[in-house]
Formats: sequence, structure tokens, C-alpha cells
Amino acid sequence: MSHDVGEDVERAPIWIMRQAGRYLPEYHEAKGNRDFFECCRNPEIASTLTLQPIERFAGLLDASIIFSDILVIPQALGMTVEMVDKKGPHFPDPLKSPDDGQYEKVLNKNVDVAAELDYVYKAITLTRKKLKGRVPLIGFCGAPWTLFCYMVEGGGTKLFIESKKWIYRHPEESGALLQKITEVCVEYLALQVQAGAQLIQVFDSWAGELSPSTFKIFSEPYLAYISKNLPRRLKELGLETVPMIVFPKGANYALDSVCNLGYDVVGLDWLIDPAEAVKIRGKRRVVFQGNADPGVLYGSKTAISEMVKAMVGGFGGGKKGWIANLGHGITPLVKPDDLKFYLEEIQRLTSS
Ligand code: CP3
Repeated sequence: MSHDVGEDVERAPIWIMRQAGRYLPEYHEAKGNRDFFECCRNPEIASTLTLQPIERFAGLLDASIIFSDILVIPQALGMTVEMVDKKGPHFPDPLKSPDDGQYEKVLNKNVDVAAELDYVYKAITLTRKKLKGRVPLIGFCGAPWTLFCYMVEGGGTKLFIESKKWIYRHPEESGALLQKITEVCVEYLALQVQAGAQLIQVFDSWAGELSPSTFKIFSEPYLAYISKNLPRRLKELGLETVPMIVFPKGANYALDSVCNLGYDVVGLDWLIDPAEAVKIRGKRRVVFQGNADPGVLYGSKTAISEMVKAMVGGFGGGKKGWIANLGHGITPLVKPDDLKFYLEEIQRLTSS
């Protein structure tokens, strides 16, 4: 982007979480019968998938996000993660307790972040080449708290029983694991920037499973560590810092303090009214990103237009301090043309 974060723009920039994915028929075509993680590990395929939405929605999307997954970090930490069709991620051997043997192994593993995740950096460099400057490329990682949940639950969950057992029975051991994950995140993000990522996003998809008091203990300090140490690490590598986005989904209860975490951009889910978020932000130079209910894309054109109008109005017209997106990832059954209409409406209503 040729703009500084928080600068006036001619219209709101737009990208969509999970914009490269299953709602696109060309995604299924390019993926074929390949395993999901095999696609992530193949720079040619990962870059093809990254570019698909940019090509289909040319002129309507202002950023690309590298095709990968947040669970490549647990893999780099030595854990097995499979992607089960129609079910999602599965860890055959999750971390059961601090004395299950694997916990110590993960904690003491000397992770070679450059070697273990080399395929991601290669995919980023190749994607930058193929993008030819059309739009910037976003790198990302999962937030420590969210990765911790996956590593102890072994997959998706509704109740978060294992995560809660860990934090409420073994707070110190949980903290040590969170710190270990955090250090890998910093190095991983730095190497993504070195490979060509121009912004980074940290996805804290499960932040809403904490509470105001536990968010302060089990998520915030690690998010702050990343925003503080990524620029330091980039400097060491002789690189300029990049804009940093944090998306603590469900943690609107902590929005005021999230605005002080050192990130340039804060992603919002759809449970907060944009005008309310803007009020909480006050005069701070933080950009918001989001936040329509992804489900509106299953609605009528009228419903989509109304949603965009309200959102643009709430964010103050869209010429400053806002990156348009959805409040979470786009879901698999959305029709690509309905997303196209959403993007067009945002452009129309923020460029006047
Ligand atoms: O376009 C993009 O946003 C880039 C690619 C991307 C993927 N996953 C590809 C993917 C990104 C940024 C992610 C992040 C991710 N992965 C998150 C954080 C964002 C969020 O949604 O909260 C999380 C929690 C994961 C873990 C994960 N990966 C889950 C829970 C699932 C299955 C859930 C589902 O939607 O069914 C995945 C699989 C996954 N990651 C797919 C894609 C395109 C679907 C794989 C397939 O079946 O083809």
C-alpha cells in the first residue's frame, strides 16, 4: 500500500478473511484430490490459490493473504496435525497435561523456524513475484492463545474443556507453553516479512472464550510481546517494520485495552457496533478492520446494501481509519457473485 496506516484514503481498502477458499469453484479445481497441508507446502499451488480471488475480483480487492494455515506452527513444534475433510483440523495426539511427556518435548524443542516453515517463505516470495505489485501481500500467524487451544483440545471444540483445565489447573505451565508459542510466532512473522509479506495479521480466533480477567493473563501479554518484538527482530534482520493487524475475535469486552496493544490495526467481529467501537477508540491512531456478519452474504442484495451502508456510516464514511472486511472468514457456501456485490457496494458507498 502506498499509504501510511491511518492516513486519509480515496475510499476504504478492502480484503476478506479466507478470501482464498472453498466458496470458489476454482479453489476445488486447483486443489484436486490433494491434502490441505500438501497444498500449503507446495509454493506453486499455495501461490495459485492466493491469487485466485485477486484475479476473479480484480479491482475490487486491495490485498492478498498468503494461502496457508495457523496450524503450521504446532506442526513446527513437532505435533501432528491432519485436516479431515468436512470436519476440520485434527491432532491425533494433543497435549493432555503438563506431565504427559509431550508437553516437555514441545517446550524444550529447539525449533528451527527458518527450516521448518521454509515452504511458507517460498510461497510468499513466489506469490509476490506473481502479484507483480497488483496488491500487497499479507502474512499471518495464529495468536498464542488460539494455537494453545488447538494444541490441547486436538481440534475444534464448543466447550473448551481441555483449555479451561489447563489454564485453571496449570496456569504456570500454560504460561510457559504460551511463551514458547509466542517466540516461534515472532520469528515466523519476521521471516515471512523477509520473504516478502508487506503486512501481518495475528488471528486470535478464540479470544472470545476467555473473560476480561483471563484475557489479560492468557492472551494479551503474548499479543503485546509479538507487537513489541517483531519490529525489534525485523530491525536485527535489517528490515523495515510492517503494519501489524490483530484480530481478537470475540474479545470486544477488551477492546479499549486491545487498542493499546501496539498493533496498527484491530480487527473487529460483527458483535460490536462500528460506532461504539469508534467511540471506544477515541483519538488513538488505531485503524479498525471488519466487521459485517459473514452470514449477510447469504442474504438478498437489499440486505447486503443495508449492512454495508450501516457499516460505512458507523466507521465514519470510510475515508480514514477503516479497512473493510467481514467480521470473520467467508464461509464455504457463499456464492462468489454475492461476495462481489458486497465488495462493489463497499467501493460505491465509500468513494462518493
Ligand atoms: O484466504 C485466507 O484467509 C488465507 C488462508 C487461511 C486459511 N486458514 C486457509 C484454510 C487462513 C488465514 C487461515 C487461518 C485459520 N486457520 C484460522 C484463523 C481464522 C479463523 O477462521 O478464525 C483458523 C482458526 C484456522 C484453523 C482451521 N483451518 C480450521 C478450523 C479449518 C477448518 C474449518 C473450516 O472452515 O472448515 C481450517 C481449514 C482451512 N484453512 C481451509 C482453508 C481454505 C479449508 C480446507 C479445505 O477443506 O479445503
